[in-house]
Amino acid sequence: MFRDESGQRPTQKIFTEVPPKYDFLNRLLTLNMDEGWRKKTAAKVLENKPERVLDLCCGTADLTMHIARNASESAELFGLDFSHTMLERAKEKVAIFGEGRVKLIQGDAGNMPFEDNFFDAIGISFGFRNLTFENPDAQLHISEIFRVLKPGGRFVIVETSQPSNKLIRWGYHQYMKFFTAPIGGIFSGNRAAYDYLAYSGNNYWSIPELSDVLKKAGFSKTTGTPLLMGVSAIMVAEK
Ligand SMILES: C[S@@+](CC[C@H](N)C(=O)[O-])C[C@H]1O[C@@H](n2cnc3c(N)ncnc32)[C@H](O)[C@@H]1O
Repeated sequence: MFRDESGQRPTQKIFTEVPPKYDFLNRLLTLNMDEGWRKKTAAKVLENKPERVLDLCCGTADLTMHIARNASESAELFGLDFSHTMLERAKEKVAIFGEGRVKLIQGDAGNMPFEDNFFDAIGISFGFRNLTFENPDAQLHISEIFRVLKPGGRFVIVETSQPSNKLIRWGYHQYMKFFTAPIGGIFSGNRAAYDYLAYSGNNYWSIPELSDVLKKAGFSKTTGTPLLMGVSAIMVAEK
C-alpha cells in the first residue's frame, strides 16, 4: 500500500500542493494526449443531451471546459472538488463562459451536497482512481455517485488503465516509474504526489475489472474504450 514520507496515504494535501504546475505536467507526462482524451470523454458525457451535468473531482476544470463548450445553453453545469487551490485555477478558466455558467463547489465526493437522482450525467477525468484505489472510502464514493445520478443517467470515467498486451503493459509501467514519477516530482516539487500517480497507475484496474466494480455497485450497460493501446480508457456506465 502506498504511503508518503510521513506514513500517510495521499489525501487532500497532495491536491492542495500540486496546482501551480498541474496542467503543464498533465500535458508533458501524457505527451499532450490528455486533452484529446478529455474532449472524447466530454462528448460521451453529453451524448444524451443532459440538462444537469457534474464534473466530479473537476480539479482545474479541464473536463468542465470541454463540457461547457459543447453543452446545450440551457444545461446546468457543476464542478466539484475538495481542493480549494485546484478550484481557484478552475474559477479563472470557467470565467470565460460568464458568471454563474458553471457552478464550482468545494466538497467531498463521499458526501455530496446534492439530492438523490439530481444529475443526468456525471463525468470524471483522472479522479476515479483517487476515489477508489486503496481507498477505505471507495464503496462510499461509488454509492454516492450512484445516489446523485438519475435512473438512466450516464456515468463516464476517463482513467488510467492496463494495456492488455503484456509487452506494452510492461513498457507503460516502466514509463510511469522512471519518467512520470521523477519528472513530475522535479517540476512540481512534490515527488510524493507523482510517486503516488506512478504506483496507483501501475496497480489500477483494467477495463474488465473496472466494469465488474461498477456492475457490483448497481450500474449497467458498461462499455470500455481503450485509449493509446489501453494506457488509459473511457468507461461509460448507466444507472
Ligand atoms: C488527478 S486530479 C484530476 C483533476 C481533473 N479532473 C483533471 O482531469 O485534471 C484528481 C482530483 O480529484 C480531487 N479529489 C480527490 N479525492 C476527492 C474527494 N474525495 N472529493 C473531492 N475531490 C477529490 C483532487 O482534489 C483533484 O483535483
